[in-house]
Amino acid sequence: MKVLVTGGTGYIGSHTVVELQQKGHDVIIVDDLSNSFIDVIDNIEKITNKRPEFHKVNLADPYKTSEFFNQNKDIEAIIHFAAFKAVGESVEKPLDYYHNNLFSLVNVLKNMQEHHIKHIVFSSSCTVYGQPDKLPVDESAPIKKAESPYGNTKQIAEEVLFDTSKVNDINVIALRYFNPIGAHKSGLIGELPLGVPNNLVPFITQTAYGIRKELKVFGNDYNTPDGTCIRDYIHVTDLAQAHVVAVNRLLKSNNKSKFEVFNLGTGKGSSVLEAINAFERSTNVKLNYSFAPRRQGDVVEVYANTDFANHELGWKSKLSLDDAMASAWKWEQYYRNHKK
Ligand code: UFG
Repeated sequence: MKVLVTGGTGYIGSHTVVELQQKGHDVIIVDDLSNSFIDVIDNIEKITNKRPEFHKVNLADPYKTSEFFNQNKDIEAIIHFAAFKAVGESVEKPLDYYHNNLFSLVNVLKNMQEHHIKHIVFSSSCTVYGQPDKLPVDESAPIKKAESPYGNTKQIAEEVLFDTSKVNDINVIALRYFNPIGAHKSGLIGELPLGVPNNLVPFITQTAYGIRKELKVFGNDYNTPDGTCIRDYIHVTDLAQAHVVAVNRLLKSNNKSKFEVFNLGTGKGSSVLEAINAFERSTNVKLNYSFAPRRQGDVVEVYANTDFANHELGWKSKLSLDDAMASAWKWEQYYRNHKK
């Protein structure tokens, strides 16, 4: 039996496929390659010595999705990453986001019901907490009104999953990621933003490489120790391993309820300046940066209470911010040197 990874050639998906295969799972990837490249499969094979099965399917298309499930009857569990994820773009193109992110989920769930597939792990986000009233934020914190259509798709998706789990033989684990960063230690897979990156770490590595002139630090007048925003940066390999733990929990029926939610973070908040320092320290590369006005929509401070994930899921992040920065830099250099 196999684990289906939707969005498996994307950033977190590809790292999860590596960890799944290394733990002995057979993996099928479905991706429409709208924000990733097929070469990722070659590099997953280089890392794991095993080529995952790949199907190019747009899961927002109900006909193609049922065709795929009709032809692949050996799927036992699903990890559903496939989604658009650019916060700013979602404000410009809300319908693209609602269509793609929600239709694909509904299509996957309908096929799970039809083919009696009982387990799904879902990529959610700490964005559901907005600016939490209490830090570190735990899973019982209230869901705040979403700041963007992207964030709203994550909130709605959790509700769709919850309602579905109540009346179907479907078990859900929703994983709320804090800020995933870094790359596989081999440097062969990593984050690949199209165009100018919005997120901090790809902007840092592209600036260090000389693709961007300088990093703008958005705001140094926040009410934090050094004036810059605070996030919980989690290494993508740690995050990927949490998905393996989650899928195994479902496969072994160790889940305590049909819908479970876990925070995936390190539990430690780091400021933008601390992230820059970690990059410079771990790579010996000096970064060109300056301070700029605040970015609209940024929450000031968010980091996870990870007790539930640590004790109930039995998972804990292991890698440091320096490890993540060093690996992101290794990946940036690999990618630029091998770009076709
Ligand atoms: N930042 C800069 N300069 C940049 C980019 C980012 O100073 O060029 C700062 C931001 O202001 C923020 C921190 O770096 O303080 C992290 O920003 P990211 O864009 O990397 O991450 P966000 O926390 O804004 O975004 C993350 C996820 C999204 C999710 C969002 C919800 O990447 O998927 O949290 O809050 F929607």
